Amino acid sequence: MKIEVSKDRCGKLLTSEPVIVITTVDKEGNVNGAAFGSYVRVAPSIMVAVFPGHDTYGNIKETGEFVVNLPGRDQIDSIMVFGKSYPKGVNEIQEAGLTELKSTIVEPPRIAEYKAHIECRFKWEKEVGSHMLVAGEMLAGSCDEGLLDERGCFDVVKAGVLHIVRYPEPVYISPEKYIEGRR
Ligand SMILES: Cc1cc2nc3c(=O)[nH]c(=O)nc-3n(C[C@H](O)[C@H](O)[C@H](O)COP(=O)(O)O)c2cc1C
Repeated sequence: MKIEVSKDRCGKLLTSEPVIVITTVDKEGNVNGAAFGSYVRVAPSIMVAVFPGHDTYGNIKETGEFVVNLPGRDQIDSIMVFGKSYPKGVNEIQEAGLTELKSTIVEPPRIAEYKAHIECRFKWEKEVGSHMLVAGEMLAGSCDEGLLDERGCFDVVKAGVLHIVRYPEPVYISPEKYIEGRR
C-alpha cells in the first residue's frame, strides 16, 4: 500500500546533495559565504538554485566567480552561520570563526577548515520559480590530504559530508560506510 505525498512535498522524497557553502566576493573584494543545498553537478558544470535576493547572487553577477566549499561533520555548527542573513559586506567566514585560504584561480577564497573546494566561473542562469539556477564551470578542485582514495575518488565517508534531510532544521545524514553491490 502506498500513501500519497503532496506536490509541494514530493521533492523531499529525494535526499539532497551534500550541503555546500559558496564563497564569493563583491567588486570591492568583500568576502561572503552562504549555505546551499539545492544544486546539481553535471561535469564540467555545477548548477545552483540561488535566491536572487541573496548577496551570493549579486556577487556572482558582479564578478562572475564563486567557490563551492564542502563541510564535514566537524564543521556542522558553522553551517547555520552561513545560513543566516547578515548585512551586505559582513564576512561570514569570520563570523563562523573559520579561516580564508587563497584560491588557485578565482578571487573568492576557499574555507581552510572545510574538506573540499571547487573553484567556478559563472556560465549562464535560468529562472526556476522563485530561484535562479546559476551555472558555473568547475575550473579547479582541491581537498584535504588523505581524502582521495587509491583510485583518486573523494572519500565521502572520511570527509563526513552532510546531506540535508530536515531543512530548515539543522538535521543531516552523513554516510558511515561503503556498501558494494553485485558486480
Ligand atoms: C542547510 C541550508 C541550505 C540552504 N540552501 C539554500 C539553497 O539551495 N538556495 C538558496 O537560495 N538558499 C539556501 N539557503 C539559505 C541561504 O544560505 C541563506 O538565505 C543565506 O543567508 C544567504 O546568504 P547571502 O545573502 O550572504 O548570499 C540554505 C540555508 C541552509 C542553512
